[in-house]
Order: sequence, then structure tokens, then C-alpha cells
Amino acid sequence: MASKITAPADYKTEMMLEANRRAHEHGIDLSKLPQLLDMNADTITDNVHSINANCPDDRMKFVFKHLIQHLHDFVRETSITTEEWMSALEFLKDTGKMCSDIRHEYILLSDVLGVSSLVDSLNHAKPPGATEACVLGPFYTEDAHVFQNGDSIASEDKGDYMYVYGKVTDTSGKPIPGAIIDTWETDGHGLYDTQYADRAEPDCRGRLFSAEDGSYAFRAVVPVSYPIPSDGPVGKMVSALGRHVFRPAHLHMQVDAQGYEKLTTAFYPRGDPYLYSDAVFGVHSSLIVDLQPVTDKELSLKRGFKDGKPHMELKRDLILATPEEGLAARKKSMPAVKQE
Ligand SMILES: [Fe+2]
Repeated sequence: MASKITAPADYKTEMMLEANRRAHEHGIDLSKLPQLLDMNADTITDNVHSINANCPDDRMKFVFKHLIQHLHDFVRETSITTEEWMSALEFLKDTGKMCSDIRHEYILLSDVLGVSSLVDSLNHAKPPGATEACVLGPFYTEDAHVFQNGDSIASEDKGDYMYVYGKVTDTSGKPIPGAIIDTWETDGHGLYDTQYADRAEPDCRGRLFSAEDGSYAFRAVVPVSYPIPSDGPVGKMVSALGRHVFRPAHLHMQVDAQGYEKLTTAFYPRGDPYLYSDAVFGVHSSLIVDLQPVTDKELSLKRGFKDGKPHMELKRDLILATPEEGLAARKKSMPAVKQE
């Protein structure tokens, strides 16, 4: 239990008065705080809750109460040693060191622990008929070039050709023009552009807009399965846990249109050996797609593929939910959490 509130005996000294004056500038009265002394495993948790009880932001107070409770329970339940806790903090420090403008190691950490998938499934539940969401992953970047429909997001020799097309619509099938479509993928070597040390500009990623009839189309390469980066602390942790580090091949897409919920998703070609053991828990059965081979030379030429070479075709409509439809779906997915 938290200690009883009692003002210290020397509260009236000059030093204490000055300290209290400074505390008042932050809306805090030192004399009304619980006296934090002699903390131990039985008292520390309630006392941390108690000292946070004046937080003016109710949501923040609620989230931190649960965060602290679970962290403290974790320490108690595992009897974690000082050395183990220090190595965990070192791990977090190393994870931070791997982050840059084009690499977010903490997203990767969240992904491999299943937290991204959990947050995503609670927050981005979709109504029936809408395209399901899945994890963003750590390889999205802001600097993608803008393309016209039909352009290629991949430079030449980046992999086997793929043509992607479909329509952006609402759940009733009404076309949505002007939707911003961001897409990114690995090249044929299983690497994102950001994983090349000599990356000069974005590749195998692009931004385009749906046409008046909602249609979109672009040329790309067939994505391939790949290991999550093993040069950082997260990849090493996954290996240490006895897991494989592979993601099945996928094409990321993010769709943003006025009046609709932003959709972050990805499409996973059927047949990939890692489809059912994704290192980041991202695959949903509704997002597994069948790529169709196209050998018609004229069609290949018309689509802009060099020498009319054969390619794979991915036809997929992107169906967006309105905020109202999304809210109704989330009400079903969110557990009834009592907000104290
Ligand atoms: Fe990815």
C-alpha cells in the first residue's frame, strides 16, 4: 500500500519552501505527495501508481498504470537478475543505435514480438468486404517517387516482372478517385532499397493516384521471401529464441483517400514456404493472392514490359472502409477495457 501522506518535520525550512515554490510552478504541492521511503517488492508498485495519480491526462495516467503494473509483475514473476535487466537495457540501447531515417529497428522489435500484429488487429479491424489491414513493417519510407498509372516502380533488372492493377472502391463497390497509393517491396534478391549501402534514390517503391474510375496500375517485380535484418539486435534476438527470421514474399500497399480510413496492408503470393510461419505474424488468409502468368507478348508490350517479356499479374481491388464502418468493426474487436 502507498504510504500515508504526512508533511516532513522540516517542511518549513527555507530550502523546503523554495523547493515547494518551484514544484508549484509545475502544479505540484510537495507537502501533499506520499512519502517515498523504504521501498521494497511489496510497496514499490503501489507507490509508483500513487506518485503518478496527479497526471492531468486521464488516458496517459491509465496507460502508465497498466504499463507499470505489467513491468513490475514481469520483474517479480521472472525474478529477473540485475545482470539480466542491465542486458535488456543494453539491448534497447543497441536497438536505438540501429535506427535511422530509413530504418526503424523498434518497429521490427514490435513486429517480431507480435505486438504490431496485436495493435493492428485491435485498431484496424475492418468491416466485412473491406480489404484487411496488416503490419506496416520497418521498410516504409517517405521519399518514394510519384508515378503515373502504368509506370514501373522498379528499375530495370530488379527482378521478374509483375503487373499490379485493380480499383480503389468503397465497400459498396463505388470507385474512389484520387486515392494516394503507396507501395513498396523487395527486389528479386529479397532486399529493400534501404538495405543497400549505396542507395542513391528510392527503388521498388512508389506513390500513385487512383484514376477517375478508381482504377490503378503499375509495373513492379515479383517480391521474394526474405530474412528480417540480421545485422541488428532484433534479428539476433529472434535467432537466439530458436525461430527462423524469414518473412514470406509480399507487396506492401498503403491507401489514403479523403473520407475513408487509411488502409495499410500487404499481399502475399500463394505458395511461399514461409506463408504460415511469418517472422512478424503479418499474414491474413484474405491477403493471400494468386499471381497469374501472362505470356501474351502483345499484352506485355502494351503494359510496357521490355521486349514484351512474360510477366506475372496481380489483380486486386483495394476496398476502403469509412470511419463509421471502421468504428463499428473496432467496437467488436476491442476488449471491454475499463478506463479508470
Ligand atoms: Fe515487408
